[in-house]
Amino acid sequence: MSGEKPLTPTLSPQTGRGSRSPSPSRRASGRREAREGEGKRFFMVAIDGPAASGKGTLARRLAERFGFAHLDTGSLYRATARLVLDAGGDPADPATAEAAARRVEPRLLADPRLRGDTVAAAASVVAAIPEVRHALLALQRNFAAHPPAPARGAVLDGRDIGTVICPAADIKLFVTASTEARACRRVKELRAQGAVAIYESVLQDLNERDARDSERPAAPLAVAPDAEVIDTTTLDADIVFERVSDLVARTLKEKEWQ
Ligand code: CDP
Repeated sequence: MSGEKPLTPTLSPQTGRGSRSPSPSRRASGRREAREGEGKRFFMVAIDGPAASGKGTLARRLAERFGFAHLDTGSLYRATARLVLDAGGDPADPATAEAAARRVEPRLLADPRLRGDTVAAAASVVAAIPEVRHALLALQRNFAAHPPAPARGAVLDGRDIGTVICPAADIKLFVTASTEARACRRVKELRAQGAVAIYESVLQDLNERDARDSERPAAPLAVAPDAEVIDTTTLDADIVFERVSDLVARTLKEKEWQ
């Protein structure tokens, strides 16, 4: 593997391997219920980063530990892409893609077929269309503002959570890693699922997707000015999780959420 640069400047920790708990997660502790009424503002964690950086796993584990509901916003774009592909449509056609985005609903997000590489590539094509992003905006903001009970907060992961969807999030993280490290992880993941994965082609797919996601004019992958950048290239997943958990616990305490 050649030494390619990370997408963003390095700062600290590494990525999560994963808890298996479903989202939204329940509170881990038995402390007082934080949901106190309709006017309440829920705690919000925004996690952004490039493909296979480990942000999804980190988000799931945080949700489980702190009793937050989790929304993998990538699944919204993947579901949009899946609907377009299933109908034999062109993911790059704005009208087709927007119509599909408007049909996305929660029950479509658990489909294991969303995880495939063809869908991932088509997802990054539909995601570049402003009408698609607009069609999916309210669902994401609504989830963050009113996470399903009994969650006491929400964690959303994606590309534009800290910059566009939840600019007022209590914690913003940008999780990244070198392209090679991310490609290795994706290959491992795919092989663990029993799929055939060739490192070179996974690497190429990631590079193409990163370029599309970072260079598009509509809500490109970008680091929010107030985000903490976590470079996971050489760090252990559990260490990252523990460091971020400390940050969440401190911030919750400061804001008197618990
Ligand atoms: O899991 P992985 O990181 O490979 O991808 P994902 O998070 O499921 O996202 C799939 C695609 O959806 C990305 O390549 C982006 O193009 C798009 N996406 C986006 O534009 N904005 C988001 N908030 C989340 C995903």
